[in-house]
Amino acid sequence: MRTIALFSLGGAPGVTTLALALAGMWPVRVPTVMVEADASGGDVAAWRRMPSGPGLVELAATARNDTAFTPAEQQDVLLDHTQRLPGGQSVCTAPVTTDRAGGAVRLLAQHPGVLRPVTDTVTVVDLGRLIPRAPAVHLAAFADVALLVVGDDVAQLKRAKESIAALRLGISGLGLVVVGGSGGTGQVSRAVGAPVWGRIPVDERGGAFLRGEYHQARPRRRPLLAAARRLAHTIIDAEESGQHLAEVNAS
Ligand SMILES: Nc1ncnc2c1ncn2[C@@H]1O[C@H](COP(=O)(O)OP(=O)(O)O)[C@@H](O)[C@H]1O
Ligand SMILES: [Mg+2]
Repeated sequence: MRTIALFSLGGAPGVTTLALALAGMWPVRVPTVMVEADASGGDVAAWRRMPSGPGLVELAATARNDTAFTPAEQQDVLLDHTQRLPGGQSVCTAPVTTDRAGGAVRLLAQHPGVLRPVTDTVTVVDLGRLIPRAPAVHLAAFADVALLVVGDDVAQLKRAKESIAALRLGISGLGLVVVGGSGGTGQVSRAVGAPVWGRIPVDERGGAFLRGEYHQARPRRRPLLAAARRLAHTIIDAEESGQHLAEVNAS
């Protein structure tokens, strides 16, 4: 039972891409759902030429209208509002425009329990760009793991460094994921002041594959997807060692 939130502070470092990859590459055979809870609008339905519903709007409306779910019903609520990508991945897509997506994220932030299904389902939530005091902050705080995705460039790292203390106040167990660059992550971790949970390589074909634009015979071998799998292992290991959960429980 895990809810993993991914977000950025600006730019487009690859939050949606990583959320899809992480859900798709989860190394344990449990159902995973990628939820696009980006208040500025979703991309997945457009990328994959799918209708945007049933998805986030319907999920948020259901969560609002009926809060008296039994745990088993709560499980179904999320799964009932997903579609399957051709490879089988379940996704709960957001509408493309911010007026509709923003309203749904606001509602969902008031009823976040639907993001935490009761059985072993893993939910990977794409919160897009986190804005201070926006409803999505509540969803990041609700998640078991909240990962700030940053591109390995001066502006994004500086923004992360200057924001990390404020983020920590509301979001426990915060980690960083760096996209691009190379080498060890110790320097980034020290510079920003938060643990780096993984580095995701720039991988154009991997990105195109996740957008549904590029056929891959063995997509799992793409550097982007392999790195997402390593990140999933890091999350699982941290949880098993109690390292992160201790922080979550203390909040
Ligand atoms: N690791 C990566 N390597 C190559 N391209 C990537 C990677 N991550 C994302 N992209 C591409 O960059 C663009 C923005 O990614 P996206 O996931 O939409 O970012 P965000 O959700 O942070 O705005 C997309 O075209 C996506 O395919
Ligand atoms: Mg996105």
